[in-house]
Amino acid sequence: MTTKANLVKFNSAEEKAHFVRNMFDRISPKYDLMNRIMTFGQDVRWRRLAIDLAALPENGALLDIACGTGDLAIEAMRCKPTLVVAADFSLNMIRLGRQKANPHKAIRFIAADGLQMPFRDDVFDAVVTGFSMRNVVDVDRFIREMARVVRPGGKVVILEITPLKSSLMKRGFHLYFQKIVPFLGGIIAGDREAYTYLPQSVEVFIPADELKQRMEAARLRNVQYKKLNLGTVALHWGEV
Ligand SMILES: C[S@@+](CC[C@H](N)C(=O)[O-])C[C@H]1O[C@@H](n2cnc3c(N)ncnc32)[C@H](O)[C@@H]1O
Repeated sequence: MTTKANLVKFNSAEEKAHFVRNMFDRISPKYDLMNRIMTFGQDVRWRRLAIDLAALPENGALLDIACGTGDLAIEAMRCKPTLVVAADFSLNMIRLGRQKANPHKAIRFIAADGLQMPFRDDVFDAVVTGFSMRNVVDVDRFIREMARVVRPGGKVVILEITPLKSSLMKRGFHLYFQKIVPFLGGIIAGDREAYTYLPQSVEVFIPADELKQRMEAARLRNVQYKKLNLGTVALHWGEV
C-alpha cells in the first residue's frame, strides 16, 4: 500500500485484502458509533429495508456475509429465522458482533472469506451484505458466491454506498466525505487513514447500473435497485 497525497493505493488484490482486514480489525471498537454518526442514524432504516427485501420465510436460514459487527444479522431476527450465519474475515469485527448479538441464539458468527465461502450450494433462503462490495477485491466472484449458497427462488440483497451522478450533489458529498468524515474518523475512531480510505472507495466504486449488470451476469433474475439518501446509497436485490 502506498499513501500519497492522502490517496490510498494498492499494488495487488492481496495487498488490498490485507489492508481492508487490518483496517476493520483496528476500527472495530468504534465502527458502530461511526456508522450512526456518519449516516445520522439512517443506516438503521436502510438495514431494515434490506432485510424486508430478503423476504426471509419464518424458520428460514439467512447468511449475512461480510457481516462486520452483525447489524443486518440482528435486524433479521424479527423474521424469526431458525438460523442466521454472520460471516466476516475480520476477527475483531465478529468478536464484537458475537458480544452484541449474545441474546440471539439463532445467530452464529464465523470467520470466513466471502470470496470462498465455506458453505454448500443452495443452503440459505437469502443472503444479504452491507457496505462490503467496495471493500472486496473481486466483486463478480463475491456475487457469484452469494448466488451459489442461496436456494433457487431465494433472494440476494446488497446494500452499498454508490457514486453520485449529479455534479452539484457530488461536490456537496465530496466535501462531507473527503473532509468531514476523515476528521470525525480521526477524533472519534482515532484512525484518520481508515476514514480517508472509506470515502475514496466510494469514488472508485462502480455505479448502481453496473452493479445491477454484474448481478445479472451472475445469473440472478429480476434484479432491481433503488437509491436512498439523496442517491448516495443503493439497495440492489435479485433472485436465484
Ligand atoms: C464497511 S464493513 C460492513 C460491515 C457490516 N456488513 C455492516 O453493514 O455494517 C465491511 C466489512 O466487510 C468485510 N470484508 C471485506 N472483504 C471481505 C471478504 N472478502 N470476506 C469477508 N469479509 C470481508 C470487512 O472485514 C468488514 O467487516
